[in-house]
Amino acid sequence: MFRRPLPPAHSMDWPPAGARTMVANMAARPVVAILTLGCKLNLADSEEIARGLQAAGFATVDHVCEAQAFVVNTCSVTHVADAKSRRLVRSVRRLAPGAQVVVTGCFPQSAGDAAAIELGADLVVGTRDADKATLVEFLSDALASCAADLPTAVTATPRPTGSAHARAFIKAQEGCNDVCAFCIVPQTRGREESRSVERVAVEVQAAVESGAREVVVTGTQLGAWGRDFAEPQQPHQLIAAILTQTDVLRLRFSSLQPQDISPALLALWEDPRLMPHFHLALQSGSDAVLQRMRRRYSANEFVEAAERIRAVSPQAAITTDVIAGFPGETDEQFEETLALCREVAFARIHCFPYSPRTRTAAARMAGQVSPEVRKERMGRLRQLNGELSIAFRSRFLGTTRPVLWETEQPSKGGRRWFGHTDNYIGVYAEGDDLRNRLTPSLLSALYDDGVAGSCPPEEA
Ligand code: F3S
Repeated sequence: MFRRPLPPAHSMDWPPAGARTMVANMAARPVVAILTLGCKLNLADSEEIARGLQAAGFATVDHVCEAQAFVVNTCSVTHVADAKSRRLVRSVRRLAPGAQVVVTGCFPQSAGDAAAIELGADLVVGTRDADKATLVEFLSDALASCAADLPTAVTATPRPTGSAHARAFIKAQEGCNDVCAFCIVPQTRGREESRSVERVAVEVQAAVESGAREVVVTGTQLGAWGRDFAEPQQPHQLIAAILTQTDVLRLRFSSLQPQDISPALLALWEDPRLMPHFHLALQSGSDAVLQRMRRRYSANEFVEAAERIRAVSPQAAITTDVIAGFPGETDEQFEETLALCREVAFARIHCFPYSPRTRTAAARMAGQVSPEVRKERMGRLRQLNGELSIAFRSRFLGTTRPVLWETEQPSKGGRRWFGHTDNYIGVYAEGDDLRNRLTPSLLSALYDDGVAGSCPPEEA
């Protein structure tokens, strides 16, 4: 296989010069707990922050423990996400009054830095490269002065963050130039900015070399990747380059819109390293609602995109997001959404009640749907999601699929493991140490939100 030599990972100015020496001189490695809310993009950001901090001499964990500093990576997509972000910052500050607390992610971008400071943050930073450099420099300075007080161990066993996990999340693009009427993300993530093929490939390869068996490439608006370059490129070119230039075993690309599902893109799915899983955000199945939302596809175009996927990958999971109770949504229009969900036979629907966000067009629209009706429609969407998910998982019972075992689950007897099939079915199995192994698994029965599987000893 032809592989272009990759530039070294440290060719990117990350972590900032100076941070490494400062922290390496300390008597013990300070622990930074990185707590993440929100989407896969936030997971990718948290992993980048972890890599930068580790390179600067910190130990990082992804859960609450006795740590010298906390990074809270927040979300603001709905009111509920805002509330969770506030709660998490406040409780970290209460739990660790002497620790440094850095708040990043979307919450301060929408609520303002002052809101995060009021909750107890010592530093508030954005989500771009320069912000991450600021974060590392700040913690290096702040913790250098308290080196003598550092404990030699943390009380909880640290689970390392980042690419020591079976799956790594890599950001290829950030920001969104679209103006969907309901969405706060263009305000929190700014204008579109794509990362070069070279940079993404270097980061994918570095994750693989650190032990990740699966890489999820992510972005705010991944289908827009490359259109901001002086010589515009398209997402299929990025995927092809990753497949050619890296040793990635399993690759997911999350997420896309129907207009991104081109023949050139789908042709790449002949490569078995590309997982048969597509996340396409539907939001509504009614053309009238889609127009008011300012989405760039019709219901029919969405169905056609799903058909194109199924034609090349009949066993693919197609998952989606749907908003219940967008302003002006009538009962009939909501029924159109349910009908489209049935027609596409989604493997999973992430349902959200419409949540008015300040400074968005939808928040000012006439015809706001009452909270009771939003709740009732959410209930029906959740029920449909349950039915469709069972139908999708049931199709594969009695078959054997490759599973990447990601986490150990709490279990009374033996050891229980959780992982995902190639087509994103969650699988639970009893077994010895399966962490980060890729094995074939016979899917035997529906279990919880996934299926129960076997775990034969050999690698897939
Ligand atoms: Fe939340 Fe920001 Fe992601 S609002 S969903 S963390 S892009």
